Amino acid sequence: MIIDNDMKILITGGCGFIGSNIAIFLKKKIKKSVIHSLDNLSRNSSKINLRRLKKKKITNFNVDISNIKKINLLIKYDIIIDCCAEASVEASKTDTNRVFFTNLVGTFNILEKAKKDKSKIIFLSTSRVYSINKICAKAKNINKKKYNFKIDENFSKESPISLYGFTKLSSERLIQEYFYSNNLKYIINRFGVVSGPWQFGKQDQGFISLWLWRHLNKKKLSYVGFDGLGNQVRDVIHVYDVCELILEQINKIDKINNKIFNVGGGIKNSITLKQLTSKVQKITKNNIKIGRKLKTSIYDIPYYVTNNKKIYYYYNWRVKKNIDDILNDTFQILSKNKQSFIKLEK
Ligand SMILES: NC(=O)c1ccc[n+]([C@@H]2O[C@H](COP(=O)([O-])OP(=O)(O)OC[C@H]3O[C@@H](n4cnc5c(N)ncnc54)[C@H](O)[C@@H]3O)[C@@H](O)[C@H]2O)c1
Repeated sequence: MIIDNDMKILITGGCGFIGSNIAIFLKKKIKKSVIHSLDNLSRNSSKINLRRLKKKKITNFNVDISNIKKINLLIKYDIIIDCCAEASVEASKTDTNRVFFTNLVGTFNILEKAKKDKSKIIFLSTSRVYSINKICAKAKNINKKKYNFKIDENFSKESPISLYGFTKLSSERLIQEYFYSNNLKYIINRFGVVSGPWQFGKQDQGFISLWLWRHLNKKKLSYVGFDGLGNQVRDVIHVYDVCELILEQINKIDKINNKIFNVGGGIKNSITLKQLTSKVQKITKNNIKIGRKLKTSIYDIPYYVTNNKKIYYYYNWRVKKNIDDILNDTFQILSKNKQSFIKLEK
C-alpha cells in the first residue's frame, strides 16, 4: 500500500539495523515524505548505514537521545518511530548507565517531544519484557519437534527480565501514561529476533548475521550456555517483513492504535543454533569448528517462539519471508560488502 502525502517522520536509531531499513523503505513507499533519522552513531555498524541513508537523501541528526535540548530543536513530526536503544541484553550487566539513559530516558525525551507536537508513536519493544524464569520453566515441557508453546502478549512479565527488558517494559508503561493523559496515538510492537540485510550481529544481538559472518571468514564461534549443545530455539523475522508491517501500521494508525502486539517469525521460522549451523555451512560453503561454552548467562533463555495471533487479527498480517530468505538475503549483503564490515572489527 502506498500513502501519497507529505508526512513527516522521525526515526530514532535510524542508522541502526532496523531503523535504517525502515527509513529507506518508507522513503520509497511514501511519496513526498520527509524522513529524518536521529542517531549518535554509537554503534560501529551505524556508520555504514549512514552512507546508505545519505544516498537516499535521508538526513541524520547526530544527537544523543538523552539530550532533550537538542531533540527540541528538531521540526514537528507526524509520526516518531522509536528504534533507538542499547539493544544488547548482555549490556544489562556491563553498561547499565548507557542502557538506562538510552532506553528509558531516551523514551521519556521522545515522549516530551511527541506531547509538544502531538505526534503519534510507533515503539519497537522486545520479547525480552517476558519473565526469564517463567519461560525457562515452560520450556522444560515443550515438544522439541513441534515447538507447541507460543508466547502471547499476556505471558508473565515477572522479574527477572534483565535491565534491558526492564527499560523496554518501563518505556511501554511511560508511553501508555503519556498517551492516556494527552489523548495521543501509539503502537507498541514486541519483536522477537529480527534479522536480515545490513545486520552486523553479536552473540546476544543478531546471531543469524554473526553465524554467517564467522563462517564466511572462517572465524571462531561457540555454542554458549545450556551445556553448549546449540539446542536453543528462536523464531526469526525478516526485517523486510517488519518494514511492511510498519507501513501498514502508519497507514491505519487513526483506526488501529493504542495497542501492544507480539511480532515474530512464528513456528515456521523457528530454528535451533545447531540447525542454523548446517544451513549456514551450505550457504557459505565453509565448515568451521564450533566450540562449546557450558556456562549459561543469567539472562539467556532456552526457547522463544512468538504467538502472532493478535497482530494477524488486527492487520491480517503474516510473515512472508522464511528462514532461507533471511539467511540468503543477509549473506548477500555481508559478502558483497565484506571489506566495509571487516573494517568494523578493527
Ligand atoms: N534486532 C532485534 O532482533 C530486535 C528485537 C526486538 C527489539 N528490537 C528493538 O528494535 C530497535 C532497533 O534494534 P536494532 O537491532 O536495529 O539495533 P541497532 O543497535 O542496530 O540500532 C540502534 C541504533 O541506535 C543508536 N543509538 C544507540 N544509543 C543511542 C543514543 N544514546 N542516542 C542516539 N542514538 C543511539 C545506535 O547508534 C544504533 O544505530 C531497538 O529498540 C531494539 O530494542 C530489536
